[in-house]
Amino acid sequence: MIYQGNAITVASNGDNIATLTFDLKDESINKLSSAVVKELGEAVKALQGDSDLKGLVIASAKDVFIVGADITEFHGMFSKGEAQIAEMLEQVHGIFNAIEDLPFPTVTAINGLALGGGCEVTLTTDFRVMGDKAKIGLPETKLGILPGWGGCVRLPRIVGADNAIEWIAGGSENRADAALKIGAVDAVVPGDQLESAALDILARANRGELDYQARRDEKTAPLKLNPIEQMMVFETAKGYVAGKAGPHYPAPIEAIKVIQKGAGEERGRAQAIEAKAFAKLALTDVCYNLVGLFLNDQVVKKKAGQYEKQAQPVKQTAVLGAGIMGGGIAYQSASKGTPILMKDIKEDAIELGLKEARKLFGKQVERSKLTTEQMAEKLSNIRPTLSYGDFGHVDLVVEAVVENPKVKDAVLTEVEGLVDDKAILTSNTSTISINRLAENLKRPENFCGMHFFNPVHRMPLVEVIRGEKTSDAAVAATVAYARAMGKTPIVVNDCPGFLVNRVLFPYFGGFSFLVEQGADFQHVDKVMEKFGWPMGPAYLLDVVGMDTAVHANEVMAEGFPERMARDGKTAIQVMYENERLGQKNDKGFYAYEEDKKGKPKKVSDDAAYALVKQVVKEDKTFSDEDIIARMMVPLCLETVRCLEDDIVASPAEADMALIYGIGFPPFRGGALRYIDAMGVAAFVELADGLAEELGPLYAPTDKLREMAKSGDTFYGKSA
Ligand SMILES: NC(=O)c1ccc[n+]([C@@H]2O[C@H](COP(=O)([O-])OP(=O)(O)OC[C@H]3O[C@@H](n4cnc5c(N)ncnc54)[C@H](O)[C@@H]3O)[C@@H](O)[C@H]2O)c1
Repeated sequence: MIYQGNAITVASNGDNIATLTFDLKDESINKLSSAVVKELGEAVKALQGDSDLKGLVIASAKDVFIVGADITEFHGMFSKGEAQIAEMLEQVHGIFNAIEDLPFPTVTAINGLALGGGCEVTLTTDFRVMGDKAKIGLPETKLGILPGWGGCVRLPRIVGADNAIEWIAGGSENRADAALKIGAVDAVVPGDQLESAALDILARANRGELDYQARRDEKTAPLKLNPIEQMMVFETAKGYVAGKAGPHYPAPIEAIKVIQKGAGEERGRAQAIEAKAFAKLALTDVCYNLVGLFLNDQVVKKKAGQYEKQAQPVKQTAVLGAGIMGGGIAYQSASKGTPILMKDIKEDAIELGLKEARKLFGKQVERSKLTTEQMAEKLSNIRPTLSYGDFGHVDLVVEAVVENPKVKDAVLTEVEGLVDDKAILTSNTSTISINRLAENLKRPENFCGMHFFNPVHRMPLVEVIRGEKTSDAAVAATVAYARAMGKTPIVVNDCPGFLVNRVLFPYFGGFSFLVEQGADFQHVDKVMEKFGWPMGPAYLLDVVGMDTAVHANEVMAEGFPERMARDGKTAIQVMYENERLGQKNDKGFYAYEEDKKGKPKKVSDDAAYALVKQVVKEDKTFSDEDIIARMMVPLCLETVRCLEDDIVASPAEADMALIYGIGFPPFRGGALRYIDAMGVAAFVELADGLAEELGPLYAPTDKLREMAKSGDTFYGKSA
């Protein structure tokens, strides 16, 4: 044994070939925490001290190779400032360079996921051999940083600047065949042949058949590009990537600049350029929030995983109603492999549901994601029916019929009498209380909400709504089914609007106030889109539908009259009364025309302005900052209330629900992270100022005031 640590062992075989194995104790994965990096430094020293060695294999004893650096350490480490970050990077560069400079040939055996820092480890060795099921990539830019352990320097020297830019700026996980094609790895073999393939490469290098020294020279020297090539590659890439990433995500462009600046330099100087840019990005709010997002996502996944473990099997499901939502739910279930009965009372509704599913599967065939045989097989997972014939074998039912409590009551009680006693019933209602729907059921413990978002195949969130009588088993099975459908379930308690709509409608409330006080709704849309929302509030209302919005607003006003009930009409109501329902009838705040691809394209419409005039009471002008505050404060405050009222269990789940459910700008991290970023005291002051003018929708809660006084935050100092 050459070295033995908690995560790393190094041993040599009879031929003096050493293997450095990553196998982090008490964890299912390998990651490069600061402790593991320290061990790696010690292991490399031990390797340097062994003069008998003739080669090194770097390998993993787990299913993954290395998933990357330990992201849970980032906030703490980055908060120490630029100098400390630079020091950490320099230390790692020292270790990685030492691997690159070992006096014998080296190879990495990539058996599973090799991401971020894990991928950068593989780049230090002379050769890489990869298992056919493994994946490799540099996703750092997705966290608002760039590969800082030599990835921006080594990868372009191995695969060329154009390919390296694609991997680094895109942050993709790449399959073995793709990695081989661009030369990121030297060979791809079945997983069980990795070790022998790695040893074979070393033997050939030692016999002089493979020139490992040439590999090193290439990796440590300036990048071979003539000035014209340089300009072509980098300038074209910058234009393309800037367009794709948008103004709020600086990391992909910074990465390209780092590759460009370092191109003419040898290893040490190129690494210094990389380190400087990394430290700069690591200190941005965007990075802080994107790292926070990753951590929140882990919390959400872990919670769902815990429910999943307790869940009874969900092998056969049924959806009631083959409309927009029912059809989408059937498609999603079938697509991910859970057979589903799709029941409606109308033959033509079923036809429409199936047509939609066929269309979505067809698109996957067009994109070569499915073969026609696979499409036929998946489509056969949907069994359309007008009767309750096979409901005795169903484990879970999703009710998605019209939003009418009487119809839902009738359908739910009917189906409860037909299914097994253990079967779980769920409702996709948007506005009806889960406790209220449970009242007529014989087994309310087997019932909960399962709230999907439209379009089902695209929107990642499913709110699982726990009623007062809902059992853990019902929640667990529903969470497990949502996960099996590839969705992110978040468990919330019952209240008007549940979590997401309860938070969204105060935002629309803010919009109504702005319009009444004289703001131009198209300008409000522009400001909020610039702020980072995928669409502004007027456009979003057109997509949601004015009828749905008015109805949901009534439910919210009844539930929370003190802050959500309004005297007089809002612009939304005026649109509704004048049959401007939004995209569904081609006119709302905007008018809609078909574009070349047959998709609705919004255009400005004077008729909408004429109607809005009916509700305009003032002639105020608002700065962009004013507009953002008047829109965001009610949304953030309602999120705070949901947390205080125990509708949602943690800040992490609240923020993720908003990002996954309504497209809250991810780089801002969510409503509670947004308050933290502003500072709770500053937020309270802003809200108080607006509450004086606009009333209780803008009034901070007592608890939030206490937090402001005591200096508390939602996420703690370095979370
Ligand atoms: N559309 C959305 O954006 C959205 C989003 C989230 C939740 N929801 C909720 O999902 C549910 C369905 O909404 P939708 O937009 O799909 O409505 P939809 O009108 O498109 O579809 C409803 C379907 O239910 C069928 N139906 C009516 N009575 C039935 C019965 N007794 N048995 C079986 N089928 C019956 C109808 O024939 C129709 O095909 C509603 O509760 C709605 O609030 C809708």
